[in-house]
Amino acid sequence: MIYDVIVVGGGIAGLMAAIEAKTVNNKVALITKGNIFKSNSSLASGGINAVLNPNDVDEIKKHINDTVESAKGLEDIKSIVYMCKNGGRIVEKLASYGVEFDKNKDGRVAQRSFGGGSSKRTCYVGDKTGSAITAVLIKKAKSVGVEFLVNNFVMNITKLQKTVSGVVSIRRIDSSIVVYPAKAIILAGGGYAGIYRGFSTNASDYTGDMLAVALRAGVNLKDMEFVQFHPTGMPKTSYLVSEAARGEGGYLLNSDGERFVDELGTRDVVSRAITQQIENGKKVYIDLRHLSREYIESKLPSLYKSAYAQAGIDVCEELLEVKPVAHYTMGGIESNMSKTSIEGLFVCGECANSGVHGANRLGGNSLLEGAVFGELAGKKALEFSKNRKFLPIDYEIVANDIKIVDTIFGGETTKNFNAMRITLGKTMFEVCGIHRDEKKLIQAFDYLKYLRKQVGTLHCIDKSKNNNVELIAILELKNALEIAEAVVLGATKRKESRGAHSRDDYPELNPKMNKSIFVHEFQKGYFKLWFEENNLLSKIRRYIIS
Ligand code: FUM
Repeated sequence: MIYDVIVVGGGIAGLMAAIEAKTVNNKVALITKGNIFKSNSSLASGGINAVLNPNDVDEIKKHINDTVESAKGLEDIKSIVYMCKNGGRIVEKLASYGVEFDKNKDGRVAQRSFGGGSSKRTCYVGDKTGSAITAVLIKKAKSVGVEFLVNNFVMNITKLQKTVSGVVSIRRIDSSIVVYPAKAIILAGGGYAGIYRGFSTNASDYTGDMLAVALRAGVNLKDMEFVQFHPTGMPKTSYLVSEAARGEGGYLLNSDGERFVDELGTRDVVSRAITQQIENGKKVYIDLRHLSREYIESKLPSLYKSAYAQAGIDVCEELLEVKPVAHYTMGGIESNMSKTSIEGLFVCGECANSGVHGANRLGGNSLLEGAVFGELAGKKALEFSKNRKFLPIDYEIVANDIKIVDTIFGGETTKNFNAMRITLGKTMFEVCGIHRDEKKLIQAFDYLKYLRKQVGTLHCIDKSKNNNVELIAILELKNALEIAEAVVLGATKRKESRGAHSRDDYPELNPKMNKSIFVHEFQKGYFKLWFEENNLLSKIRRYIIS
């Protein structure tokens, strides 16, 4: 059980990384905490942005500009240029692996409009693009010999001084602690929108586990306050109504039957406009009735089925009610072209802050970022692992993780972790959601501190070691609370409104805050936050773009 490269996370970024890191002779494993088919990537239905012709410099520039514009001053231009330039090549690579993108009549890959895009550049497979891509990548990874270690909950990484040496994980089948030595590690385990439990398109186990792992290993988090609210979730279930619905011509109507916003604006703008309608006592609907049944069934088959199954609505004839819900997190582990401050530790996908989204992400750019930076992380990890020796495991970390698990199994409790995670989701949505202000954020901080104390007193009621869901839920809740605190602290520090971060008490963008906020855990349970020294990038950006 020793590996050249270990990848944690089975979405598009993790799969691309694992495929890229694998050679005929090396050992690469991909760890997932649950079922390999369940990832946020598979929920990103609407598509993947790319300029398909690599020589179309004007279109690539437009993609760069749209992405920069949406990021509102917090972008890393180098990463954006890299991503946009590689879009066409990566879509071609995915197609060569077997992804069957929808085609135009002329046989070329079809592209649809997406919010904030000045051109039609979103390639798709109906409205199940993410699941179609991940299914193909899983097959590909298996065929090249990547080993899948599913149902493994990663607790920590170990390192020797400043270089990684292994992954500490709970094997869920028997709750034992397992150590996987590795020369290089790639974290690709998704974001933290799941902490908005009950108000999120994400599976509820997207609790920012990899960010918590990185934080504990001494790596900084960056721009944690930026949480994207997708304009259209179903009100009761928060199920995603893909942006593809608006990209294919759907309207947003209020209960007076009026359109009130450009449906293809960026998600922050559209979400706020919908929220305003709701706060004014109106309901908001997506209207597809002007599109033919045949068109809807061919372009939006998943939406057609899920609206029927979840809300009993036939979207060809009826309006479907929607509301904004947490969908994606722009904040993440500080990285520079997938590298982190720890040698041999790479990050990609939603858990990483690669700088491509800044304060707000364009729809269709997450699958692209995952694929492009997953590939890059895989290449870099492979390179790093070559000609290196395995380093010793830090057994102090392992012993501590064993102690944590023993304590959770050991004690008795009457407290209910489920109630805690539900109130956490509700609190985060109400006080650190689409609208924020100082008073509410301070209340949220106090409440989180209280929950962080309470979580230490949680124990499993069911003591069975076999696939114990309580154990994992308690550990996820611990991570979620750490991450939630980082989000609230970042939101409190950023006294302005920018992109997805909207402060009622500071409604304007403050150009002096064209800077990222970093988070460091300087002592267990205590965070230090600071603005980056000087964001020269935003000046360079203007120069490059103009
Ligand atoms: O609406 C959607 O289909 C989501 C896509 C994305 O988040 O990129």
